[in-house]
Amino acid sequence: MTQHFLRDDDLSPAQQREVLQLALDFRNDRYVKQPFLGPKAVAVIFDKPSTRTRVSFSTGIAELGGYPLIMDSRTSQLGRGESIADTARVLDRQVSAIVWRTFGQERIEEMAAHSQVPVVNALTDLFHPCQILADFAALADERGSVSALQGLDFAYVGDGANNMANSYLLGGVTAGMHVRIGTPEGYLPNPEVVAKAEQIAEQTGGSVLVTHSNEDAVRGADVVATDTWVSMGDEAQSEQRTTVFEDYQINAATLDLAAPGAHVLHCLPAYRGKEITADVIDGDQSIVWLEAEYRLHAQKALLTWLVEQ
Ligand code: CP
Ligand code: NVA
Repeated sequence: MTQHFLRDDDLSPAQQREVLQLALDFRNDRYVKQPFLGPKAVAVIFDKPSTRTRVSFSTGIAELGGYPLIMDSRTSQLGRGESIADTARVLDRQVSAIVWRTFGQERIEEMAAHSQVPVVNALTDLFHPCQILADFAALADERGSVSALQGLDFAYVGDGANNMANSYLLGGVTAGMHVRIGTPEGYLPNPEVVAKAEQIAEQTGGSVLVTHSNEDAVRGADVVATDTWVSMGDEAQSEQRTTVFEDYQINAATLDLAAPGAHVLHCLPAYRGKEITADVIDGDQSIVWLEAEYRLHAQKALLTWLVEQ
């Protein structure tokens, strides 16, 4: 059966460790593996804007020896109503993998159901699993090994209902972390995701805490992460969200509550003065640029791993 990567728990704990280790190897040697020599093509489709995902998949697929076929729904028949199933049936006869940034999770599930080649989630409304692999690989690099991720206290504060929160929950417990989400009322993570994360945590020794207290989430944490308060698609609520999330900013006072030397993550794009202050994102504890670089290494590792299955 074709192996896809549609959500963080599509990788078992052992498989996640394998991909993260390969990501570190790719940082060490950009050409350590080249599964797409030929060149073989990989389709990368965007239904939403992107800078990092576009650059890292394009560069990564080229470095793997392949050809990145970058598409968007606006200029393809997908945007004119051609079905996802038919699109999958056409693409999978010509490309080695399909990477897609889209809206509903059910859309990417449908693509995968009809594709004979691996389908990769490059962000949906529900998950952003490639970002989590990059984040964890950057953390593993900073902390000396992939096994150092086990048992870390990982705090995410801000919009608990967005794709990053859901993915940190599933990906974090898969890595054996204690994941704490600090978010206001009305912005809780997806309940099915929380239940699944709790179930995985029982096997990995991780745990899950969802709280309305920013302080409880961050106190003593080894890692402090946040994301924009206004995800793609939420723009109409921009003003309201700025008020709702006001107390969930990562600033010097929040960071003081965390463990000494805690690492700061942000998937970017960042809005300084909103979800994070400039002194924190541009400060010593921030590893956001390494995190952005790891999009390249982690996605190369993931694509290599997927086509080797
Ligand atoms: N972090 C991230 O996915 O960035 P882009 O939206 O620029 O791809
Ligand atoms: N939560 C953000 C992530 C951007 C990379 C969004 O969906 O817009």
